[in-house]
This record gives sequence, C-alpha cells and structure tokens, in this order.
Amino acid sequence: MKLILAGGSGQIGRLLNRYCARQGWQAVSLTRTVQEANDVFWDGQTLGAWTEHLDGADVLVNLAGRSVNCRYTADNRRQMMESRTHTTQLLGQAIHKCQRPPAVWLQSSTATIYDHTLDHPNDEVNGVINDQRTGAQQSWNFSVQIGKAWERTAQEHCPSSTRLVCLRTAMVMSPDRGGVFDTLRTLCRRGLGGASGDGKQYVSWMHEIDFVRAMHFLIEQTHIQGVVNMCAPEPIPNTLFMKEIRQAIGVPFGLPAARWMLEIGAVLMRTETELVLKSRYVVPRRLQEHGFRFEYPRWKEAVRELVCR
Ligand SMILES: NC(=O)c1ccc[n+]([C@@H]2O[C@H](COP(=O)([O-])OP(=O)(O)OC[C@H]3O[C@@H](n4cnc5c(N)ncnc54)[C@H](OP(=O)(O)O)[C@@H]3O)[C@@H](O)[C@H]2O)c1
Repeated sequence: MKLILAGGSGQIGRLLNRYCARQGWQAVSLTRTVQEANDVFWDGQTLGAWTEHLDGADVLVNLAGRSVNCRYTADNRRQMMESRTHTTQLLGQAIHKCQRPPAVWLQSSTATIYDHTLDHPNDEVNGVINDQRTGAQQSWNFSVQIGKAWERTAQEHCPSSTRLVCLRTAMVMSPDRGGVFDTLRTLCRRGLGGASGDGKQYVSWMHEIDFVRAMHFLIEQTHIQGVVNMCAPEPIPNTLFMKEIRQAIGVPFGLPAARWMLEIGAVLMRTETELVLKSRYVVPRRLQEHGFRFEYPRWKEAVRELVCR
C-alpha cells in the first residue's frame, strides 16, 4: 500500500508515518521543508514533480494547513483559510491529472465545525453547524467557516473515481512532545490543570491508537464516504477531563482558570481561548454504526495509557 501524506510532517502526519512503517506500507510526505528520507517537496501552491508520486498511490491523506494555534488576526485568518482551501484544490487538480488516481482521499476537516453545544451531542446526521452566531461567541464562527470551506473544496475537486472521506477530527491525544496532550500534562504538573472557564464545556478527543486504527478502517471499508467524526464515543466536560489528567499523573490540585484569566493568557501565549472554551460535544456515530471498535473509548483509561508511555 502506498499513501501520500500532504502536510505529513506535522503531529498527525508523524503518527501516520509511524503507523505506516509498522504496517509495512510506503508513506510519502509532501512538505515545504524536506527533512526525512520519505519527504517529497511541494510548495502547496503549484503542480510540480510531486504529482508523479500521487499517480498510482492507493491513498491520499490531506493534512496540510497553517496551525490554528495562533491569534486570529486578519493575516492569520487568511493564512489559515487559504493554506487549507488552496492545498485541497491543488490536490484535486493533481488527482485529475493522474492516470491511476488514488482509490481514496482522506481529507482533514475538524470537529470544531459543529456548534458550541452543552445539552446534546453532535453526530454526522443530527449535528448542528452554525457559523452565524452573534455576541460573545461570534469570533468562533471563523473555525466553522474553515471547516465548511475545507469540506466544500474537497467535494468540488474530488473526481468521482476517488472515494472522498472528510474527517471531522477532534483533538488527537499522543504523548509526543509539543502536542496538545503534552501541553495539558505540563500545565497539570505545574498546578495549573484546573477547570477552564466554568468547566462545563465538553471536550471531544481521540487516542492516537484509535485515530490510526480508524484511518486504517476507513481505507479498508470501501463503502464509507462523506463526513466521518473522528473522536472517542465518550466526550466529557472540561472539569472532569482535567481532573482525570491530574489523577493519572498524581497531582491532587489544579488551579482553575477563569475566563478573564484565559483571555489574558491567550494574548500572552499568542493563541485563542476558543481552543479551550468552545464546547466540542461530538460523537462518532458513523464509525460505530459501521462496526469500528475503540480500544480507548473512555478518557480515564486513555489518559492512563498516555501517561505511562
Ligand atoms: N492535531 C489535531 O488534534 C487536529 C484536530 C482536528 C483537526 N486537525 C487538522 O488536521 C491537520 C493536521 O493536523 P496536525 O496537528 O498534524 O497539524 P500540524 O502539526 O500543524 O501540521 C500541519 C502541516 O501542514 C503543513 N502546512 C502548514 N502551512 C502550510 C501551507 N501554507 N501550505 C502547505 N502546507 C502547509 C505543514 O507542513 P510543512 O511545513 O512541512 O510543509 C505542517 O506540518 C491540520 O490541518 C489540523 O487543522 C488536527
């Protein structure tokens, strides 16, 4: 099996590269900075020699996009949007030129596409998608707009001969340095791992082992196409989520962070409070209906496994 990982140098790309190596699959990462033996240069903007690698590959995974962990200035917003829609459009153009196009295109999207909900979970059928919120949550509309534009671009540019799956991915948890779990664990170790805001917002997450297993499942299940929520079946409120991390690492207390403290912290850390305050109450209906079995459905066990490594 040969996979092309566009944007394969990032956190998720590294997980997939490792999984491919274990499976004995060939993985090629398209990157703007060639570093590894299996890296191939692309600029993310133009067709070039990289397209030869796509021709005859079995799977295309598109992970490319400017990190959303930044201040949402006008310039950063433009980069976040364009780095996703342009690369997706470019990959569509490249597939159209292939003599033997990949059978499946696994396209990144985001669980943040769903509305901030506290009272009901969002699945692929009944989930609420609303980018017209007003008031305090208006700034969260942009992430929803990114998700919608990302999926729409892939749908418009994917040829009918290739099966398209849009991955509405929640936070993927792995112990790798610099990842989201590493950051949360560090905060907890420093006594700062209390609830964020009122702590009622839900956290959707997925253990890295289940993430790569689900990707494998989606490659093999040739009848699955369209949107798929990539998250564990048991999202939990932020208060409980943080408490489980503290318990797993043996830190009894975590200072809670009020909303105003988070706002100040986000400015200092050049990030946005949406990443911790928006409720992501998302469940993997389609994966479960198609028979995918999670090794880590519950955060309690997942976090203990992550801490042990
Ligand atoms: N990690 C998660 O938990 C999570 C959850 C939901 C959705 N997602 C989405 O899934 C995708 C992969 O996530 P990740 O955590 O692996 O992201 P990441 O670590 O930020 O990696 C993304 C990759 O995109 C490439 N990239 C950045 N800007 C680009 C541009 N302007 N043109 C072309 N390529 C560009 C970079 O590769 P080079 O610099 O090597 O070219 C980078 O390695 C992202 O789009 C992210 O938004 C991730």
